[in-house]
Amino acid sequence: MSIINKAAAIGGGVIGAGWMARLLLNGIDVSIFDPDPEASRKVSEVMKGARRAYKQMVPGGLPKEGRLTFAATIAEAVADADFIQESVPERLDLKHRVLAEIDAHAPANAIVGSSTSGIKPTDMQVAMKKHPERLVVGHPFNPVYLLPLVEIVGGEQTFPEAIEVAKEIYASIGMKPVVIRKEIEAFVGDRLLEAAWREALWLIKDGICTVEELDDIMRYGFGLRWAQMGMFQVYRVAGGEAGMRHFMAQFGPCLKWPWTKLMDVPEFNDELVDLIATQSDDQAHGLSIRELEKIRDDNLVAIMDALSKQNKGKGWGAGALHKDYTKQLAKLAAKKPTASKAAEKAKASKPVKKAEKPKKKTGKKKG
Ligand SMILES: NC(=O)c1ccc[n+]([C@@H]2O[C@H](COP(=O)([O-])OP(=O)(O)OC[C@H]3O[C@@H](n4cnc5c(N)ncnc54)[C@H](O)[C@@H]3O)[C@@H](O)[C@H]2O)c1
Repeated sequence: MSIINKAAAIGGGVIGAGWMARLLLNGIDVSIFDPDPEASRKVSEVMKGARRAYKQMVPGGLPKEGRLTFAATIAEAVADADFIQESVPERLDLKHRVLAEIDAHAPANAIVGSSTSGIKPTDMQVAMKKHPERLVVGHPFNPVYLLPLVEIVGGEQTFPEAIEVAKEIYASIGMKPVVIRKEIEAFVGDRLLEAAWREALWLIKDGICTVEELDDIMRYGFGLRWAQMGMFQVYRVAGGEAGMRHFMAQFGPCLKWPWTKLMDVPEFNDELVDLIATQSDDQAHGLSIRELEKIRDDNLVAIMDALSKQNKGKGWGAGALHKDYTKQLAKLAAKKPTASKAAEKAKASKPVKKAEKPKKKTGKKKG
């Protein structure tokens, strides 16, 4: 059950609309602000997709959806919110402007999460003059309404209490919060993705494979392993009975072989963009982005559902969480309370704490 009474989504693009959908489908009221005149149409497209996916996850009926309102200003959107998620484009100057406005108008005890893919919270919270201590990075993965992971990162001014409350908030809407132990740019997920992306760009640019062949190599091969065990546990098993130590002894030396170009970035020129975009068009075989989104969502639900039946029915990895989440949604649906009554009740038992002066800070500035 959620501990959020009312949420605000600032920015309603790919990620902001995904947050909005997850919150609404958990019965939470959301106020959204996005200056794009097309925002209402775009978020309703995302909501349609999310609703469709959730109907597959909870076939017995979904909880009563939260109420969505479009605010005319950031001030209006955040006025009575206890959880605010910022998802505006990835530019520090814009994040500063938007976070300053959120901070000026949000209730003092509201938690502010930023969806940034890589900007350090320390660099963002300097713009928050009133309560910088309540900012955390809450970095999600697309589609936010289905993928459970959220990386939580605190900055130098973030209170430990804010991280704890953020963990509870994200977990209450079916997510898997992982607190990143040290503040670095791009955190953990995007560090890994950027490394793979750079290498992939080289492989295409050098004509080693096409984008379709590269994707096949992932989705018919190690991508299937990663989804259920990640990297280290997969390698532990790959080491045979001797496990990780043997794996490292065998493959460690390869790291020095000329296998990777990881430190270099190919020139991101028109030629490379054209090459990749054309091959990507061919790979899509005429399917639109919306059609591909449906296929992606169906597959993700099917994968999580399959994993939820593993491990003697207890579920494995994301499947174990999926099992609990779908149960939670079904329970909420069976109760059919109004969203605000449910949230009020939950809030009464677990209030979002007011920020207090920290005893110790959560992050250290990196040199
Ligand atoms: N796309 C991804 O896969 C992904 C994944 C994780 C995190 N992120 C992060 O999420 C954030 C948003 O990315 P996105 O992909 O949704 O971008 P997007 O371009 O799809 O959406 C950004 C939205 O912000 C709106 N916007 C612009 N100025 C605004 C303002 N002043 N106030 C409110 N809204 C404003 C735009 O109109 C747009 O709808 C970025 O920080 C990005 O790094 C993106």
